Amino acid sequence: MAKFIIRGGKPLNGEIAISGAKNAALPMLAASLLTKERIVYHNVPQLLDIFTIKKLLLKLGVNMSETDPLIVQAERITNHCAPYELVRTMRASILVLGPLLAREGKACVSLPGGCAIGARPVDLHLRGLSEMGADIVLEKGYIKAKAKYLKGTEIYLDIPTVTGTENLMMAATLAKGETVLKNAAREPEVVALAKMLKDMGAEIKGEGTDTIVIKGVEGLSGTICSIIPDRIEAGTYMVAVAITGGRARFKNCCLEHLGAVIKKLKEAGVKITKVSNGVEILAPKEIKSTDVTTLPYPGFPTDMQAQFMALMCLSNGVSVITERIFENRFMHVLELKRMGADIKIDGASAVVRGVPKLMGAPVVATDLRASASLVLAGLAAEGITEVDRIYHLDRGYEKMELKLKALGAEIERVAV
Ligand code: UD1
Repeated sequence: MAKFIIRGGKPLNGEIAISGAKNAALPMLAASLLTKERIVYHNVPQLLDIFTIKKLLLKLGVNMSETDPLIVQAERITNHCAPYELVRTMRASILVLGPLLAREGKACVSLPGGCAIGARPVDLHLRGLSEMGADIVLEKGYIKAKAKYLKGTEIYLDIPTVTGTENLMMAATLAKGETVLKNAAREPEVVALAKMLKDMGAEIKGEGTDTIVIKGVEGLSGTICSIIPDRIEAGTYMVAVAITGGRARFKNCCLEHLGAVIKKLKEAGVKITKVSNGVEILAPKEIKSTDVTTLPYPGFPTDMQAQFMALMCLSNGVSVITERIFENRFMHVLELKRMGADIKIDGASAVVRGVPKLMGAPVVATDLRASASLVLAGLAAEGITEVDRIYHLDRGYEKMELKLKALGAEIERVAV
């Protein structure tokens, strides 16, 4: 176990590069199960969640290089079961279900349990697959699915689930006939996965809209791909610069994927300018209060809600932050309050009254983005903040303390 010790109050200045997106890399790695051929991945971030999916793929019999770029080949799948130990540590392990079923006609994946940010069921993944002809039973905590072959059909998703869309899209690439996914997720990570699948020979249209049409093909081939930049990592560091009163440049940052985040940061007074080979962020003299509601893409991402709340804690007024994706995603609020923030929760909304300053404190969070918000608050706070259980941060932020140090932050990782 390790924790971060942060001495706050230093403006962040300088330049960093944004890493490959965790949430794009995970489904793209799962897609390696769809072909016998080699896939070469560039720009894969080194994160705990990536380590977990690699471990899962290795368990299924996939060959993998230890090199960068990462080379993965699922020539033969020797095991069809994603065990509880791995699914428990990372819910996105469910992403192997669609590809295994489509290629092998069988899969066994531990049913993800509850998690720190809410119930998070996978019923829509399962319903979609059974509508494609899969026979699915739940047995002893496991999803057991089989199908002689999957057949294309029209699937309406009650909620535009991101990993659900990805799972079904992957399954449909090898199904017989045409699958139409209605109310599909439009996230850039879904589009990135579709692009990779198309490069492998899949026939997909409509990715990035709410209707994706997939014509099943006989087989898919290998490909070379590159992971898109992580929009949530970029957004988090934009807040880090803004909250500390700094000025910085980010390389490898895709502004097109950050529309709603940039709009809200601009409303808060942050200047964000496209420059050659990157983006420049300039903090405002005074942080303006602004309301935010999380929504599916292209709305404001739930994965940026906690970080934006940290910024609003130091704003010049009152902001209302409403969480519409997950029912229990205010785990950071009590900890931010321990640092002097003035926040009241009212159902799915948090009313944040800006305070002139935050004070360092020992804090702990139970999920990835909540932990990130505490680091941000710590960077701006007076005195020392200790953020415990940083394995949550290691799941989704590559070299976080090194990047923050490169921007001039005083942050140390210490073993406890
Ligand atoms: C993905 C992201 C996660 C992000 C989330 C929302 C990955 C690996 N993770 O998670 O970082 O916070 O999108 O942008 O990409 N739901 C159901 N039934 C289902 C599936 C989902 O009711 O079968 C509900 C969930 O409980 C939640 C909402 O739909 O309330 C959206 O969840 P979903 O888009 O599925 O999130 P994930 O794909 O798990």
